[in-house]
Amino acid sequence: LIEDTGRISWTSPSNIALIKYWGKYGHQLPCNTSISFTLNESKTTMDFSWSSKDTPSDEIVLDFYFENKKNQLFEDKIRAFLEKNRELFPMLKFLNLEIESTNSFPHSAGIASSASSMSALALGLCSIENQAFDLDICEADLIQKATYVARLASGSASRSVFPEVASWGENTLTSIKSSDELAAPVEGVHEVFKTYRDSIVIVDGGEKAVSSRAGHALMEAHPYREERFKRANELVETLYNILKSGDTKSFCDLVETEALELHGLMMNSNPSFILMKPNTLAVIEKIREFRKESGLDLCFTLDAGPNVHILYPQSIEEEVQKFLSSEIKPLAQNGLIIHDRVGQGPERF
Ligand code: PMV
Repeated sequence: LIEDTGRISWTSPSNIALIKYWGKYGHQLPCNTSISFTLNESKTTMDFSWSSKDTPSDEIVLDFYFENKKNQLFEDKIRAFLEKNRELFPMLKFLNLEIESTNSFPHSAGIASSASSMSALALGLCSIENQAFDLDICEADLIQKATYVARLASGSASRSVFPEVASWGENTLTSIKSSDELAAPVEGVHEVFKTYRDSIVIVDGGEKAVSSRAGHALMEAHPYREERFKRANELVETLYNILKSGDTKSFCDLVETEALELHGLMMNSNPSFILMKPNTLAVIEKIREFRKESGLDLCFTLDAGPNVHILYPQSIEEEVQKFLSSEIKPLAQNGLIIHDRVGQGPERF
């Protein structure tokens, strides 16, 4: 142990999947490849401090604070995660940890915080190990370990450690080097997609009706299981070609189809879930009408919940903002729309 005490902070963003991860096997491995935009504004900041234990012990000593308050629930979850994956962090024998976490997005915005928080956690743990024990692990290797650790905590978090566009899962494309164990950046993406905006319409900021853990489990006996995984992997290839070519029209078609497919899967699950709310459909209809009238390439995607992510290139931002204020804002809960965009990934400070 080189440094007895120390502090490190990381900020890590959320991400929005274009091709969704829905269904897993083994130790947190995905049944199909997924691709996402890394976001910029919706993020978690974690401040880590550590001190050396008086005597090495197997007990995991961790204090966790969320938005300046002790958060026992989250602390217990992190402790359980660390206990389960103890072999990844031998340092826990020697160090006491304190973590303070804050999110940039409002509490009840219905934005899943697991991708941003679990990627921040993974990055923090990997850098503490590096610094406290002077391991001299280079940045690229640290990110590799962080995507691995983040994946074990929450699958989609594995993608958040990379800038702009990331994928996770085995595939045959030479420009996408991800595997089921490690996410990776998607190379060769057309500049237009790096300018994409994501206006997140909060239709309902409440708790998700189905946790993603339960959602993934529903795919185990799903009647369309095999068909879905095969098709999702095909869609990854199609999407990659679109991302390379800069074809924003085909992007709209594919991304919307995929979002509705995720919801279709949930409707066809046993038990069945309808996660859209009436205003989710109202927003979708407005988007499609506006696209038809204006000829502008904006489209929507959905997570496993009722909120709508509206995706569009920066070049049409002004027109879309006007449309959002007049047509969409009245459909959002408390008028809440969070303006986000494709971002550069985590930052350490
Ligand atoms: O990472 P999890 O287990 O919370 O699952 C995420 C599932 C979706 O957000 C619906 C899709 C995805 O790929 O992010």
